Parts: sequence; structure tokens; C-alpha cells
Amino acid sequence: MTNKTIVIACDHGGYELKNILSKRLADRGFEILDLGTNNTDSVDYPEFGFALASAIRDGKADRGVLCCGSGIGISMAANRYPEVRAALVHDALTARLSRQHNDANVICFGGRTTGPDVALDCLDIFLGTEFEGGRHARRVGKLGQPI
Ligand code: RB5
Repeated sequence: MTNKTIVIACDHGGYELKNILSKRLADRGFEILDLGTNNTDSVDYPEFGFALASAIRDGKADRGVLCCGSGIGISMAANRYPEVRAALVHDALTARLSRQHNDANVICFGGRTTGPDVALDCLDIFLGTEFEGGRHARRVGKLGQPI
């Protein structure tokens, strides 16, 4: 990771978890680019997933964190950008594999499905695990190609 900025965004369903994860990122010394939402008023998750993906595409951050209620919708939104490999994770193993095998640059959580302690553990693993490359690099390369 060359850029110490992490971009973070959520919808209302992920707002509380976003705050918890932001604090951990600050504690770990990262600069945080917070794209909202900033309260629990109902919003549409695609707008926040797209905004975060645009920030990755524009080089404002190398890595991102997204939260919605389930983590599903906001990860779908972010993955519409070819520069983004957003992984919805639920535990330490999926967090680790998202980096080792998929070179995920965005980690996604469900604020209604994953508790804060598990999410924090996953975040630390996501930040601290290298991509294995090799056969995985060929596969990840195919993900970025036009359909
Ligand atoms: C919002 O109610 C909810 O649908 C959203 O946070 C997310 O779970 C969508 O995938």
C-alpha cells in the first residue's frame, strides 16, 4: 500500500459500524477520506458505493471500506467499477483470502450481520495481508478486462 489514505463510506445500515472501523483506522495511523453517510437517515447505498469506487479510480486512496445493512448492495455497487475488487467478508478466513487470492482493494461489511469485534479483526487482516500473486495474478487480471 503506497497511499496511507483509506476511503470509507456507508449507508444508514452501516453507519454505526463505519464509525467503529474509522476509529480503528485512525488508531492504526491511516488518513481517512470519509464519504458519508453521516447519520442514520435513510439513503441509497449505490450512491455511496459509487462515490467510494470513484475515489479509488481517481487515485485518492488505494484501499477502501464499505458498510451497508448486509454488505451486499454496497459491494455490488462498488464492483461495477473495473478498478475495484470489493470483497464482502464475514470472518477472518474470508478477509485473509480476499487479499491472498483476490487482491481485494475494498472490504465490505454488513452492519446488521457482522458484529464489531469480528469486523475489526477482519479489517486488521485486510490491511496486513499481502496478495500471493502467481496463479492468482492471472485470474485477478481477467477480472479487470472488459467483458
Ligand atoms: C437498507 O435498508 C439495506 O437494504 C441496505 O443497507 C443493504 O443491506 C443493501 O444491500
